[in-house]
Amino acid sequence: MTAQDFEGDAVVTVTDLVAGYLPGVNILNGCSIEARRGELIGIIGPNGAGKSTLLKAMFGLVKVHSGTVTVRGQDLTGLKANKLVSRGVGFVPQTNNVFPSLTIEENLQMGMYQRPKRFRERFEFVTDLFPELAKRRAQRAGSLSGGERQMVAMGRALMMEPAVLLLDEPSAGLSPVKQDETFLRVHEINRAGVSVIMVEQNARRCLQICDRAYVLDQGRDAYTGTGRELMKDPKVIQLYLGTLADAV
Ligand SMILES: Nc1ncnc2c1ncn2[C@@H]1O[C@H](COP(=O)(O)OP(=O)(O)OP(=O)(O)O)[C@@H](O)[C@H]1O
Ligand SMILES: [Mg+2]
Repeated sequence: MTAQDFEGDAVVTVTDLVAGYLPGVNILNGCSIEARRGELIGIIGPNGAGKSTLLKAMFGLVKVHSGTVTVRGQDLTGLKANKLVSRGVGFVPQTNNVFPSLTIEENLQMGMYQRPKRFRERFEFVTDLFPELAKRRAQRAGSLSGGERQMVAMGRALMMEPAVLLLDEPSAGLSPVKQDETFLRVHEINRAGVSVIMVEQNARRCLQICDRAYVLDQGRDAYTGTGRELMKDPKVIQLYLGTLADAV
């Protein structure tokens, strides 16, 4: 069976993941999450909970000590990032996610280095979602604002036609207006058929737009439910959402 033939509902299944940066020091302590076809999954939780580590472990950037990462029915645990990209996993880290000295178009080409022949077709898909990337294709990424860079970074990850896109805090450091725009774009990417797993500091907005979410705490999935369920859950409100109780 190839990944393309996979008909199951789960696009990504992470099971009991134990991972960390140093031998004997685990940051993820048995973390399990799942993203089904077409879902937008939110990951929230306090600073240091292991949210970024989870995405990095899924993308082969942190050593997995035990547990599995399955994508479209294939066990991809511990594969390197370049292999994961060709098997349908895209990752946008929070920072340093564009090549500043390259133009927007060159950044998108870098996303395609494994499949240069499909550049034109994928460029059209990405610029349908982000028309301003086409208009400003010759501009260097280093001269863009934080929000614009985030679009380039997401566009680059989308060039390889991922089945799932992992986003680490796409709204961080942006003005409220730009944050809203970023969430809208993430929603559009998801509606275009890409499953998304998004880590967010802005827990309230994240829960509003995601289908389901996981609250991470001390390297484990502490709570899960639909965004709506978690927003109303008194434990989640008290521990992670602070004054959200007043807002819903
Ligand atoms: N490169 C690294 N080497 C060693 N330890 C690290 C490294 N990166 C992160 N850690 C540790 O792993 C733990 C989890 O960090 P992680 O960045 O995954 O948290 P997070 O949930 O993403 O937090 P934040 O909300 O602040 O982004 C922290 O205790 C952190 O100090
Ligand atoms: Mg983080």
